[in-house]
Amino acid sequence: MEEQQKSSHVVLVMVTFQGHINAALQLATILHSKGFSITIVHLELNSPNPSNYPEFTFVSIPDNLTESQLSDKDIPGLVRSVNKNCAAPLQQCLEKILHSHHHISAVIYDSFMFCAQPIVDDLGLPGVTLCTHSALGLLFYHVFPQLNEKVCVADCISGLESPELQALQLQGFHALSSQNPTEAGMEVGAAFANALKSSSAIIVNSMEFLELEVLSKIKQYLPTPIFIVGPLHKLAPTMCNSLCTEDNKCISWLNKQAPKSVIYVSFGSIVNIDKQELIDTAWGLSNSKQPFLWVVRPSMDRGSEWTESLLNGLEESVGERGFIVKWAPQKEVLAHAAVGGFWSHCGWNSTIESICEGVPMLCRPFFGDQILNASYICNVWKIGLELKNLERGNIERTIKRLMVDMEGNYIRKRAMDLKEKAAFYLMEDGSTSCSFDGLAKHISSV
Ligand code: UDX
Repeated sequence: MEEQQKSSHVVLVMVTFQGHINAALQLATILHSKGFSITIVHLELNSPNPSNYPEFTFVSIPDNLTESQLSDKDIPGLVRSVNKNCAAPLQQCLEKILHSHHHISAVIYDSFMFCAQPIVDDLGLPGVTLCTHSALGLLFYHVFPQLNEKVCVADCISGLESPELQALQLQGFHALSSQNPTEAGMEVGAAFANALKSSSAIIVNSMEFLELEVLSKIKQYLPTPIFIVGPLHKLAPTMCNSLCTEDNKCISWLNKQAPKSVIYVSFGSIVNIDKQELIDTAWGLSNSKQPFLWVVRPSMDRGSEWTESLLNGLEESVGERGFIVKWAPQKEVLAHAAVGGFWSHCGWNSTIESICEGVPMLCRPFFGDQILNASYICNVWKIGLELKNLERGNIERTIKRLMVDMEGNYIRKRAMDLKEKAAFYLMEDGSTSCSFDGLAKHISSV
């Protein structure tokens, strides 16, 4: 099959967020290894480093975005701006690629870049949606435009057999709908659902055994073929796509810690936490008496005099027990024997990276799919605890429950069991490679 794909050319359109860039480049790497030639279309803001991928062609399109727009304050508004600003440049870019290559087998676009679908429809090209979130997120986004109609939500969960999953979905849907979707949120949800309807296939960075029931539910709603291709970070593990410089000193620090003693704290690449939460996090970590590795990104206000003095004070009071970095080599950290817990915002990449290393999680979701992921982690897979109350005493107690108390035994064991399942899933000459072969066949045939 690889021979037949030598001349197949795939264009991959990606967005600006770290979690999305990782998945897109990992997917591109695997498709390239299967014989496809690859053009990556990316935004100007947060461009990837082309020298890491000499075998790909990189094309940048203007996005008119500013660094300050990349905060979690208004993600739907940001996604709307991305699609508004980039539609015309993307169209021109694809036309140019068509003229120079004569042939594009498929345009795979990040689900946040839904403006691509009407463009590829116009150009007569097949569009494929890449979901960097879970299949459950896909279900949610598909029904999102109809969220106000209770009937639809009830209908959506009625076919799910396990009570945990029903509860999870109701909880997730309610949490998300109670966030009062803004006009931008409704618009983005509707555009996303429309794009899905005409997309020729959907790719999801997940593992089938994690989401069996949800996947079968989606198939009732969408006739579109779905390819479950994760965990991409394990299948294309060698690259570093970090937009920030990784601080590798934390690995030497981890080497000195006792097995499974460290709580790793990171809230991904977009989330911002406010002053009070930063203070309570610092106190909670300090009082827990557990060793900790904490990522405080510069865009989380690090660099401000206030934050620096808080962090300096914390480092002074905990000494060698704590280590604070601006950006960590997360996959390496999670795989390190000293790490025994992950306090996370529950971004999808962080979630599957943690599952693959058997690290139980402390969940502090902020928005969007993070809420669904946290529910999956705590209620369905039962490999984590949710931090509902961010008061420092509660943080301290919950860290202890997860890491050391007897009460956490079950969760820690479940996390290890899921790691084993993931390893087995990867080893099997089954699901993942079948899915990739199916995807390659699909792209070559559409
Ligand atoms: C965003 C959304 O927030 C999330 O809800 C959605 O599921 C995906 O897109 P992000 O906030 O970046 O993602 O979180 P996540 O999906 O967890 O991705 C973060 C990536 O950055 C992970 O691959 C993680 O390994 C990496 N990372 C994070 C580092 O390499 N170092 C760090 O210090 C922190």
